[in-house]
Amino acid sequence: MTLFEVRGARKSYDGKLALDDASFRVARGEMLAVLGASGAGKTTLFRCLSGLASLDQGTALLHGDDVARLRGRQRRRIAVVFQQFNLVSRLSALDNVLAGRLGHVPAWRGWLRRFGRADMQLALECLERVGLLAYANQRADALSGGQQQRVAIARALAQQPDLIIADEPVASLDPHTGAGIMALLSDICHEGEGGIAVICSLHQPELARRFADRVVGLSGGRIVLDVAAGDCGDDALRQLYGGAIAA
Ligand SMILES: Nc1ncnc2c1ncn2[C@@H]1O[C@H](COP(=O)(O)OP(=O)(O)OP(=O)(O)O)[C@@H](O)[C@H]1O
Ligand SMILES: [Mg+2]
Repeated sequence: MTLFEVRGARKSYDGKLALDDASFRVARGEMLAVLGASGAGKTTLFRCLSGLASLDQGTALLHGDDVARLRGRQRRRIAVVFQQFNLVSRLSALDNVLAGRLGHVPAWRGWLRRFGRADMQLALECLERVGLLAYANQRADALSGGQQQRVAIARALAQQPDLIIADEPVASLDPHTGAGIMALLSDICHEGEGGIAVICSLHQPELARRFADRVVGLSGGRIVLDVAAGDCGDDALRQLYGGAIAA
């Protein structure tokens, strides 16, 4: 069943199209990898999907709801994971994860960081899920890059999202650590009954083949590939990256 759908997405900067009529769907419990050369439009797409920027034309629908219209708690149904982790460095791992609950508590409680027991319990469960319960009280800047990304994923999970959008989540990590993060995202996506969806951009096609269910390829803002990961062969990749270089 479709969880998330992008229809005819267009976005231009200074008259130059960065996204050109992009459409695709993601099902609940599905992990979608977005591949494409530098400048292909991946970050533009992700910024528009997560509400950080707006589309010029087209829509992104989460369960049929236009993401551009999601506000407050509804907005938290889409969680974002960044290449640079984006943790608050002087806060503990636990406090960073609790930040994922900010949309769920009245603002004054958030500012005072007086979270209730249920929020605290959930944050600890999320840290446990990413294997970092023992680091709950460690400052974020005293964690390795891989650990910081796990905390960022725990923060995303604390939002109890339907969809996690991750723009190059492993680009700042060594290959082994990066593969561990991809395995974690894939497990999160595939476990449980409801299942959430993950959309993740990558510069490593081998990680897409190994961990994703489906691969979408962007070139010059257009979707030129939309295949099951098992069908993402070398020819498809050559076309994807070769096309972008030629453009
Ligand atoms: N804020 C901006 N202002 C003007 N042009 C932009 C802006 N952001 C992106 N672009 C342009 O849009 C196009 C797509 O860029 P985008 O950052 O989405 O590519 P990308 O696929 O994420 O690349 P990379 O793999 O290097 O991260 C590029 O031509 C880029 O120069
Ligand atoms: Mg980018």
